[in-house]
Amino acid sequence: MKILKRRDFLKGAGLAFFGPALLAKGVSAQEKEIDWFKEIHRVADPHSLTPVEKKHAPVISIPSYIKAKQVFYLTAQVGETLHVMTPQHWIMWIEVYVDDVLISRTEFSPYSPYAIVTVPLSLDRESTVKVLERCNLHGIWESSVRAVPS
Ligand SMILES: [Fe+2]
Repeated sequence: MKILKRRDFLKGAGLAFFGPALLAKGVSAQEKEIDWFKEIHRVADPHSLTPVEKKHAPVISIPSYIKAKQVFYLTAQVGETLHVMTPQHWIMWIEVYVDDVLISRTEFSPYSPYAIVTVPLSLDRESTVKVLERCNLHGIWESSVRAVPS
């Protein structure tokens, strides 16, 4: 019969005491695993982007001066830090909307070098320009800007 030394006893007691809590923590971590395709993602705080927001939130560029009913160009890229384009992880498409009307949809293959689009637009009134993109692993992301023609 083995006699437990004090140190062995304490290790065993610690595992018995903390073990269930550690296992419960593992289960809850699994439960907290994000379902990226459950909702459309938007940046929570534009002044403090998370790493996943930096790679996925569309970055929209439009001219600072827009004249009503004249064509201007919107450029949208996926991520402040450009998203990777590999067969395992890539941007599938980018859509551009003006006041919820689809203007453009661009599909990408994983072999495109970058997920960037340039789209001609013309506005006759103040509008919301919205860009959505879909990552094959991280779901759909949306950004928008107000465009005010003069
Ligand atoms: Fe991604």
